[in-house]
Amino acid sequence: MDFKDLKTKVQKEIKTIKDLNDLDKVFRNYLGKKGEITKIFNTLKNLSIQERKKIGKQANLLKNEIEKNIKEKSEEIKEKISRIRVEKEKIDITRPGIRIKSGHLHPLTQVKRDAEEIFQSMGFSIIEGPDVETENYNFDALNIPKEHPARDMWDTFWLKEQNLLLRTHTSPVQVRYMEKHNPPLRIIVPGRVFRHEATDSSHEIQFYQIEGLMIDKKISAANFKAIIEEFLRRFFKTEIEIRLRPSFFPFTEPSFEIDMKKGTGDWLEMMGAGMVHPNVFKAAGYNPKNWQGFAFGIGLDRLAMLRYKINDVRLFHSSDLRFLKQF
Ligand code: DAH
Repeated sequence: MDFKDLKTKVQKEIKTIKDLNDLDKVFRNYLGKKGEITKIFNTLKNLSIQERKKIGKQANLLKNEIEKNIKEKSEEIKEKISRIRVEKEKIDITRPGIRIKSGHLHPLTQVKRDAEEIFQSMGFSIIEGPDVETENYNFDALNIPKEHPARDMWDTFWLKEQNLLLRTHTSPVQVRYMEKHNPPLRIIVPGRVFRHEATDSSHEIQFYQIEGLMIDKKISAANFKAIIEEFLRRFFKTEIEIRLRPSFFPFTEPSFEIDMKKGTGDWLEMMGAGMVHPNVFKAAGYNPKNWQGFAFGIGLDRLAMLRYKINDVRLFHSSDLRFLKQF
């Protein structure tokens, strides 16, 4: 076979090849150890010098050209393979994404944390107390002795154990804290409280309060008004007006009820408060002649209901996802 025919034959074969294995076969058939073109080189030694030169040159040209053809084909195949792979992996960016399901904090927890942050920025520490209280801390030390009609203000879950109950308010932590710490002091006490009552849209047997207590040598109702106004303004993120109405709590004298008004809205009852009663100071071991201060108790559920315009307090403990998912 002459060089021209051989070349045409190999090139034809290369053209039809589709994968690298077949291409490798072609390489071995012609350029491998026993390949056809290699064989030509092996026969050169039997030829005369003149023929050797001539044929050797032609064989070299053929060998180079076929090598080049094979290399080009191999690149072509590799490119095709990678193009197919990229196409397969391509992401359809118009496809709607899958929403990642993530939880969030309960609205009451969000409100509690916001309130804590505001009071902390005004120098208040966050204190906690037990849910199961003694009769002494929940009542007596707060100037509510046995048989005192004021006890009726708090319908109580009594435990079987003597003198234990589920705290009806966070006020007992005032006394617990004062027994262990010297004034001046500023604390808030967020916590769960319990009332043995029928439930309706504004009453639950368990709810949350934030107790506040600030004691120093000269603390007045004016200090209280300034602090609580600042708190409500920052909590509701709007200008508000407040008013103090005379009220009664056994542990404060005088006592007041605080109402709040947002813009042109109605007056809303926000919390009870007052100047700490001398008997409470005495129960905690303070000399009432040396110290004065204010205390307050805010309903946390009420703050949340006003912020999120919720009309039924029972929703908070309903575990109803349709409700919870809105926050
Ligand atoms: N403990 C009261 C309640 O549960 C709320 C309260 C009123 C707390 C006046 C106070 C206060 O500290 O001074 O109804």
